[in-house]
Amino acid sequence: MTQNKNLSGSDLWKKAKRIIPGGTQLLSKRSEQFLPDYWPSYYSRAKGVDIWGIDDQKFVDMSIMGVGACPLGYADDDVDTAVKTAIDKGSMCTLNCPEDVDLAEKMIKLHPWAEMVRYARGGGDAMAVAVRIARAHTKKDKITFCGYHGWHDWYLAANLADDRNLDGHLLPGLDPAGVPRGLRGTSIPFRYNHPEELEAIADSAASDLAAIVMEPIRDYNPEPEFLKIIHQISRETGAVLVIDEVSAGFRLNTGGAHKLYRIKPDIAVFAKAISNGYPMGAIIGKSEIMESAQETFISSTYWTERLGPVAASTTIEKYERCNVPAHLIKTGSAVQTIWKKAAESSGLSIDTGGIPPLSHFTVTGSSPDEVQQIFTLYTQLMLDRGFLAGKSFYSSYAHTKAHLDSFQTAVEESFGIISEAMKRKMVKKMLKGPAAQTGFKRLT
Ligand SMILES: Cc1ncc(COP(=O)(O)O)c(C=O)c1O
Repeated sequence: MTQNKNLSGSDLWKKAKRIIPGGTQLLSKRSEQFLPDYWPSYYSRAKGVDIWGIDDQKFVDMSIMGVGACPLGYADDDVDTAVKTAIDKGSMCTLNCPEDVDLAEKMIKLHPWAEMVRYARGGGDAMAVAVRIARAHTKKDKITFCGYHGWHDWYLAANLADDRNLDGHLLPGLDPAGVPRGLRGTSIPFRYNHPEELEAIADSAASDLAAIVMEPIRDYNPEPEFLKIIHQISRETGAVLVIDEVSAGFRLNTGGAHKLYRIKPDIAVFAKAISNGYPMGAIIGKSEIMESAQETFISSTYWTERLGPVAASTTIEKYERCNVPAHLIKTGSAVQTIWKKAAESSGLSIDTGGIPPLSHFTVTGSSPDEVQQIFTLYTQLMLDRGFLAGKSFYSSYAHTKAHLDSFQTAVEESFGIISEAMKRKMVKKMLKGPAAQTGFKRLT
């Protein structure tokens, strides 16, 4: 029980910002990203898709479900029972837990091209391990990548060359302060479905290219020509093809999304969805490459605890047993339809996108500042109706038809109010606080 239970969520958030730089360890959990001064910010408990704030007010989560970490829903009974049993048997000791090997076998069975597995506990950490292995294996330095892959030096180094290099890769405005300037030029971005950009990078950096790093899919299906060039350049230069499944993995199918698109990785990296709310990250790959993990030093105490692999194996078994990805796709598609229909009937102009389990919408035809005000008003109106909601929706197995029905009513009402407010130029005036922030900014 928190010693701060008498504070409101927003007062506790103000206190947090004074003693925790940035208030939280994850940019996507900053209240300023949703509804500055009015977001509930803290939870006392969560179950299924229900979240209770620290004042015990209940909300239904139609937003990002623990930033994509809980596709089975919060506090899933099967996963929690397995984890509680593991706690009772000792989550940590001097010897290794056999569940490490169980999970490795499971991952290799799901991905027969992979022969060996290492672990971390978070997505960014696991990606840093993959990049280190690729550099150790090739004895080369340069990484070319598209998309977001975490906070580590290897990735932020891209912004040493041009501080807008990472814009367009999910999180704009990432500052490389604290990243050694000597890493300048070691990380080079290309855009998804732009094979010509990768070809140009390969032309200038081929002799020093350690890895090509990308998500299998984010917003759009990969085009055949793009994949052909990716495989060709990886083959010709010897660069390790690292597929980042941290967000896409285990949502469209049980396993990596790369299996659906015939992408042939050398290494694939999993976290988030793999363990439904417990820290876990897995790096799987071909043995000739993974063996290079023995030539460099990759080692951390809590990467050997027991709860992560137990949670992951139980989660994966449930995905298979209940065909969870089918439910995630169906639910995400239904939400995209709800947004589209509500926009049509209210006269709001929007686009929807993302793979259905990781859906989002954008407002079109307005300036960037107006768009932020509109999103903020949407979140404010939805919160008044008992929903945590924003421009993104990550589906979970715990979302039911009843949730979708009540969500639809609330979205229709909210879009109607927003549309009226836009006509009367009242959106900003209707906001109780400032507009939400996008991207990375220093908090005050
Ligand atoms: C594709 C991808 N890679 C890596 C990461 C970093 O994972 P984590 O936040 O667990 O460090 C994320 C997080 O959103 C991601 O979406």
